[in-house]
Amino acid sequence: MKGLILSGGKGTRLRPITHTSAKQLVPVANKPVLYYAIEALVGAGISEIGIITGETGEEVRSAVGEGERFGARITYIPQEAPLGLAHAVLTAKEFLGDDSFVMYLGDNLIRQGLTGLVDAFTGQAPSAMILLAHVSEPERFGVAELDGDRIVRLIEKPKVPPSDLALVGVYLFSHDIFDAIDAIEYSPRGELEITDAIQKLIDTGRTVQPHIVSGWWKDTGRLEDMLEANRIVLEGLERSVNGDIDETVTLEGRVVIEEGAHIRRSIIRGPAIIGAGTVIEDAYIGPFTAIYHDCTVISSEIEHSIILEHSTVDHVAGRIESSLIGKECIVSASTRRPKAVRLMLGDHSQVEV
Ligand code: G1P
Repeated sequence: MKGLILSGGKGTRLRPITHTSAKQLVPVANKPVLYYAIEALVGAGISEIGIITGETGEEVRSAVGEGERFGARITYIPQEAPLGLAHAVLTAKEFLGDDSFVMYLGDNLIRQGLTGLVDAFTGQAPSAMILLAHVSEPERFGVAELDGDRIVRLIEKPKVPPSDLALVGVYLFSHDIFDAIDAIEYSPRGELEITDAIQKLIDTGRTVQPHIVSGWWKDTGRLEDMLEANRIVLEGLERSVNGDIDETVTLEGRVVIEEGAHIRRSIIRGPAIIGAGTVIEDAYIGPFTAIYHDCTVISSEIEHSIILEHSTVDHVAGRIESSLIGKECIVSASTRRPKAVRLMLGDHSQVEV
């Protein structure tokens, strides 16, 4: 079996971060979301992995490399335009050959591993296996209508959802999916939808097996989902303290301090992770916070947030919370007269002061 990870898309709901970066490279608990997908595939014995890329292809390629460090062999497959998930599968036709494959959306995170699913798929050889999860806003996803454990219907982002079972962004396909994709049309949003292709498999009498996921699942496309994914993954971390920490520092609960971090006169309350080369002084880092590598936090308080590499938070008076701060940002106290808030924000930034 092969793996196909989709890492294109515009990531409009995570602007401005995605003006300059791939959404799949935003770190959750200090690890790019995309790495979790690669690790899940490798964990299920799949080492031949294709990554579909879009405009951020170069960045994805330089972050992930050829795959050796994951124990995988990675092939990059550029998609000329984001024309849908089924279009991405067509783009990968040559790479996939006649093999079955796991398609994994690179912004999805699921707790359960893929090993059991891959074994069940190989043993029973259906045309497709889809993963479903109960969600509170099914209209944001592809939705399945089941009759017992048989799928009756799949609809992409229905206004009136027939159930609360959303299609998770992990699918197992046999080569049959190509015939189904050939038989569908572009959707009203201008995409070749994988949901329509799977519906076509059902309509032509092929076997499509549903599997309801047991653990959590997150599509990290929005800020609140990204923060929640970060919270959930941090909760599962083991305490591990490296770095340079002086005796005035208090570390509470599940805290990961990476090698090369410097912490002085601060309180770090877990679950939290502090990246390599990051300097924290006279600060409070609260639960569910991930500070990536080479950041500086001085005399400030941060909670339930993600901060990307090379950013600085300096003498900020109020506590920063539920925030996502990009790379090389500077958030600092304003000491000049007249007293004012001074901003230089990228397009589509959001600030609450
Ligand atoms: C895509 C699929 C949708 C699925 C979702 C999971 O949606 O079209 O069926 O539920 O991924 O993340 P999109 O992210 O393209 O809106």
